[in-house]
Amino acid sequence: MNLILLGPPGAGKGTQAKRLQDNHGIAQISTGDMLRAEVAAGTPVGKEAKAVMEAGQLVSDDIIVRMLSSRVSQPDCAKGFILDGFPRTVPQAQALDRMLADKKLTLDVVIELKVDDSALIERIAGRFTCAKCGEGYHDSFKPTAKAGVCDACGSTDFTRRADDNRETVVARLDAYHRQTAPILPHYAAQGTLRSVDGMADIDVVAAQIDAILTQVG
Ligand code: AP5
Repeated sequence: MNLILLGPPGAGKGTQAKRLQDNHGIAQISTGDMLRAEVAAGTPVGKEAKAVMEAGQLVSDDIIVRMLSSRVSQPDCAKGFILDGFPRTVPQAQALDRMLADKKLTLDVVIELKVDDSALIERIAGRFTCAKCGEGYHDSFKPTAKAGVCDACGSTDFTRRADDNRETVVARLDAYHRQTAPILPHYAAQGTLRSVDGMADIDVVAAQIDAILTQVG
């Protein structure tokens, strides 16, 4: 099963993609995580992407498409993949169509997480991640069971993303509405687009997604 999770920053794409990966064995491919790894490693791509990401803008289509093309061919994608944060522009969506056709792969479904803009700043401002295993949390919506200790690995070391501040979130939301939302008609025309209520509780969103996967699977 190959699917796209689409939605604005903080919509819950990463949260739901991780659950799908754990429960269905489908590989999560997050272009944001891939870029953050490049930034942390200080590669040429990372050096080019860092300032763009911290300003809440989109990294160039060229870099992203090259990065993704090799990723979907890796062995962990044999059972399928979840694209989290890609495509984000009409040229990226068109490049993905060509890439899938070249690799003789199909896109089963595109799931849009619909969330009110007003909820997103609170979601992003409260987000933190275990520095050791990458498990994601939220101060109010998904706190650790024991304060300051990761549920998954027991680490006490947590991080917050450099672009998770109010000013950058406003720019990221603007980029979503101007550059990413225009790809929705592309998938509606292909007949693959489905929507879920991303304002619901995390477990309820996951159940809505599972119901769609059962229908299309
Ligand atoms: P990226 O890393 O993709 O970030 P994003 O799209 O802005 O999305 P987020 O990771 O912020 O949010 P999410 O939807 O995954 O939400 P999450 O599940 O964490 O991209 C970062 C940057 O990289 C971009 O700005 C750009 O510069 C660059 N980039 C990446 N891909 C690119 C591309 N293709 N082209 C060009 N540039 C690219 O949830 C958020 C919080 O809310 C969490 O704390 C979570 O616990 C909580 N939460 C989740 N669901 C719920 C719920 N239902 N109810 C309550 N709380 C919830």
